[in-house]
Amino acid sequence: MENSQTLISKMTLEEKASLCSGLGFWHTKGIERLGIPSIMLTDGPHGLRKQIGDSDLVELEDSVPATCFPTASTQAATWNRELIFMVGKALGEECRQEKVGVILGPGANIKRTPLCGRNFEYFSEDPFLSGEMAKSHIQGVQSQEVGTSLKHYAVNNQEYRRMTIDVIVDQRALHEIYLAGFEIAVKGAQPWTVMCAYNKVNGTYCCEHPYLLEETLKEEWGYEGLVVTDWGAMNERIDALKVGLELEMPGVDNGNTEKLIAAVQSGDLEEALLDKAVERILDMIFKAHKTLEEDYIYDAEAHHALARDVAAEGAVLLKNDANALPIKKNTRIALLGAFAKAPRYQGAGSSTMNPPRLDNLYDEMVHIAGQENITYAPGYSPKGTTHDKSLIDKAVEISKQADIVVINVGLPDIFEVEGLDRTHLQLPESLNKLIAAVAAVHSKVVVVLSNGSPVEMPWVDNVQAILEGYLGGQAGAGGVADIIFGITNPSGKLAETFPIKLEDTPSYHHYPGGPKTVEYRESLYVGYRFYDKVEKEVLFPFGHGLSYTNFEYGDLHLSQEKMTGQESLTVTFTVKNTGNNTGKEVVQLYVSPQAPTVFRPTKELKGFEKLDLQPGDEKTISMTLSPRAFAFYNTGIHDWQVESGSYRILVGASSRDIRLEAEVTIASTQDGVSIPDRDRHPVYINFPSNGRVSQEDFQAIIGHKLPSNELIEGETCTLNTPIADMQHSLIGRMLRKQINKQIQTIVKTDPDSPNALMMKSMINEMPLRTLLMFGSELNRGMLEGLLMMINGKFFKGLSLLLKSRNK
Ligand code: BGC
Repeated sequence: MENSQTLISKMTLEEKASLCSGLGFWHTKGIERLGIPSIMLTDGPHGLRKQIGDSDLVELEDSVPATCFPTASTQAATWNRELIFMVGKALGEECRQEKVGVILGPGANIKRTPLCGRNFEYFSEDPFLSGEMAKSHIQGVQSQEVGTSLKHYAVNNQEYRRMTIDVIVDQRALHEIYLAGFEIAVKGAQPWTVMCAYNKVNGTYCCEHPYLLEETLKEEWGYEGLVVTDWGAMNERIDALKVGLELEMPGVDNGNTEKLIAAVQSGDLEEALLDKAVERILDMIFKAHKTLEEDYIYDAEAHHALARDVAAEGAVLLKNDANALPIKKNTRIALLGAFAKAPRYQGAGSSTMNPPRLDNLYDEMVHIAGQENITYAPGYSPKGTTHDKSLIDKAVEISKQADIVVINVGLPDIFEVEGLDRTHLQLPESLNKLIAAVAAVHSKVVVVLSNGSPVEMPWVDNVQAILEGYLGGQAGAGGVADIIFGITNPSGKLAETFPIKLEDTPSYHHYPGGPKTVEYRESLYVGYRFYDKVEKEVLFPFGHGLSYTNFEYGDLHLSQEKMTGQESLTVTFTVKNTGNNTGKEVVQLYVSPQAPTVFRPTKELKGFEKLDLQPGDEKTISMTLSPRAFAFYNTGIHDWQVESGSYRILVGASSRDIRLEAEVTIASTQDGVSIPDRDRHPVYINFPSNGRVSQEDFQAIIGHKLPSNELIEGETCTLNTPIADMQHSLIGRMLRKQINKQIQTIVKTDPDSPNALMMKSMINEMPLRTLLMFGSELNRGMLEGLLMMINGKFFKGLSLLLKSRNK
């Protein structure tokens, strides 16, 4: 096979330009005369969603059966790099069997708010954990010579207006929180592709962001793969190519290929730049093609078993008073909850996949404990959303006859949907009422939760045990049952804080923003960084999770007590299993700067390991902290800096269960470097406990005035205006109707499904230009004509529309 450069030298300008966008929704283009194959890219991230039908359609509910692993929330709660690598490897094997060249994932966006509708697809509120999980996932998939797509780069932390929202974020938070996880994954695993997000960051769309794509991803981090748009995220094609966005997806007839050709011909775009983009695309195509030439069959049983192990390791035992769990043999159990028979196991949207089998908690518990020991009642309606007192009464009745009650509740599927954020953190009233009613008559109540993101628990003090099972995938029920009966010792730990109530969350006052911008006024104080800084009580802290055994920590030793800011520090300590059961422990290492002159979180996660220990066993753990573990991002020099001073080294079983402490003193060689005042802003040094930050204070750290967030009456609409913001005009209203019709012919989904909800919100929020993604009735000229009409130039617009109609 010729190498990419030789091939490029044989390609026409038209061929090169055409290769920079896909063939329909899920393929790259091929060029037969040059032997360039077409390969498939399709969704993950927790399983392969390869649609069965026509590839020009988006068939959300009709895909080739494939293993549904637990979603990223669950995976992250394992804190187990090897296990996540194994999941990635299994995904890679399934891609090989199905001839898929790139699986779209993992998602490494930070959980800025528990309300984000896609949190189930993301790992953590912490960039280090998120980055390490993403890295392992990528390494696993790519060990099979199949590609990944690290997404959504960057700062895509909400679904509300995700396609147009302009995220206003300061440079410290951008680097220390929102980019840090991507950096770990890119440098550590070189994903074949990185997917740019839909949104804008500080005024520029991610697809054409010179700072994010060119300067940071490619130049600073040394990224070698290619950048692909999120589906429909392309704004200005030429600008995007110039800063390193190689591949536009999906590939549709939207005039962008012609624009690339014209730009080269006019000299606006250097052909060498186009060649570079094509080279990266060809390299990816040929790598994938080479793998897929060979047939492969994966072991579905082994993948199911792996999915079960991951679900068990990702389940977090939040509370276990008087050792209510595990349940012993021959105990009379009342099992309640419609989800115990019809499980919640994944979220809705592009990641929805089609598992070949789906275990449920009822069958799994019966299988282990025997039918004779289990009585069942649903307790609430199948979807969990409507209240039915008779179902609760029946559940209470059978609970009274049992030694222990297990109640499976969680978020109904319409609460966890791509494209839609939640508006509150509550479970449906009927589920809370069920728990309260049962807890009032029984003193041994275990709540098993099925949800991808935190919920409020008004009943927390009235039940004896809580097991957060997250969204466990096709074998999740088995993993949870194993924990309930002590076959598996729980070892999951929270990768996110569970707040007591929504009002406590750091971005409460500054989310979701809109219609134009969202201001990240809390800056670095995301997740535990906020709760720790303002010393706020939480329901369950970051890193928390109980076990059926006990671990003792000891013998903390630092490789040095004094060092320069250029050296690494090795931290050594021991952990011993002092209980009676074999168990795994996640040991966490935090760094806490003692008197920084800049604003900083109280402590930050900088290391973790997962250990497996037999009763009585002791292990010595060694972790190395590089200078970066002590550094902050100096916005004056645009680089990392370590300040002189003392740093506490904290080793713990959770962010609020620190077992060992030591101190290292750093005499930094960087002390002469000047630090801008904005990095030392007093409001951010003593952060307000209600999380409310004034416009002036936020402006001080971003270094400029905030852009307007208002829709101005009579403001000119553009191709980037969301359809929802054109409803003042008759043409805008007609357009919405037209889009609705058009999308329904392209995106196939059951009208009553959560995916249909996603489509509804998408139609409202999509900018006009994305219409071209959905087919051919309209072209760019017609859209521009329509825009003129919306903007009041009716006749001029109409004439353009008519002129463009037959082009
Ligand atoms: C989602 C991506 C997904 C893509 C293709 C987009 O709407 O944001 O995560 O990979 O669609 O389905």
